[in-house]
Amino acid sequence: MISLKDKTALILGVASERSIAWAIAKKFDSLGANILLGYQFRYHSRIKDLVGQLTNLAGYERCDVTKNEEMGAFFAKTTQPIDVIVHSLAFAPATALENPIIDTKDDDFAQAALISAHSLAKIAQHAVGHMSQGGSIVALTYLGSQRVCANYRVMGVAKAALEAYVRELAFELGPKKIRVNAVSAGPIKTLAASGIKDFDLILDYNRAVAPLRENVTQDDVAGAAAFLASDESKMITGQTIFVDAGYSIVGVPSLS
Ligand SMILES: NC(=O)c1ccc[n+]([C@@H]2O[C@H](COP(=O)([O-])OP(=O)(O)OC[C@H]3O[C@@H](n4cnc5c(N)ncnc54)[C@H](O)[C@@H]3O)[C@@H](O)[C@H]2O)c1
Repeated sequence: MISLKDKTALILGVASERSIAWAIAKKFDSLGANILLGYQFRYHSRIKDLVGQLTNLAGYERCDVTKNEEMGAFFAKTTQPIDVIVHSLAFAPATALENPIIDTKDDDFAQAALISAHSLAKIAQHAVGHMSQGGSIVALTYLGSQRVCANYRVMGVAKAALEAYVRELAFELGPKKIRVNAVSAGPIKTLAASGIKDFDLILDYNRAVAPLRENVTQDDVAGAAAFLASDESKMITGQTIFVDAGYSIVGVPSLS
């Protein structure tokens, strides 16, 4: 039985009740963790409405990963030790998702890479002083890092960088007993997903091809994140674990 009792989890990336980060927050809360939320200020009122649902809320503060002062203030205010960090955030400008990848502008690439990948290292740098007893960092990624997924474009490049960061950070932080892993989720309808063209068709295709013939839910992802956050996974680090109903193993799908 997984327990997160006596652990404090910092969860970044709640924007709505559909956010994967929100499902993770509720799951961790139900498993006894104290929950700290870091969020983008534009979602402040939604977060305020949601946090009442958590039993073990330890705090919620704005933490935009592009604003170094805001990040610094967030971690300076955080006085308690942190055991778990969930990085459930990504962004690419609409123009970069809509146009051919050969037209990707420098600034669009820089923004996608900073927010979706490099922020993991920045968060780890801030958090490491709060994790003197070791801990677990979990990032959210997608198959577009390893294979071409239509309309994912520069986000695929950013997710490849994120997964490389997971391995590099796992190697560097391992001696401090801080583990770093990623969960690669199948497609789920969220705010971030609404930026991907033909997302409903992508959902249908995944459901038809995946061995389990289902789309995954936020709760399915939260279950895997809870395992990676818990001591049940204490010898797992540097890995990307797929929660995708098996979609990623299929080369040629059933043709009849
Ligand atoms: N929805 C999917 O199909 C899917 C599949 C695989 C992986 N993921 C990944 O899951 C994670 C969460 O996405 P989601 O689908 O729950 O969507 P979401 O829109 O609910 O969450 C994305 C989050 O990123 C945050 N964010 C963006 N820019 C930020 C910044 N500058 N500073 C701080 N936070 C910022 C937003 O505030 C939001 O909370 C992302 O990494 C996404 O790539 C999503």
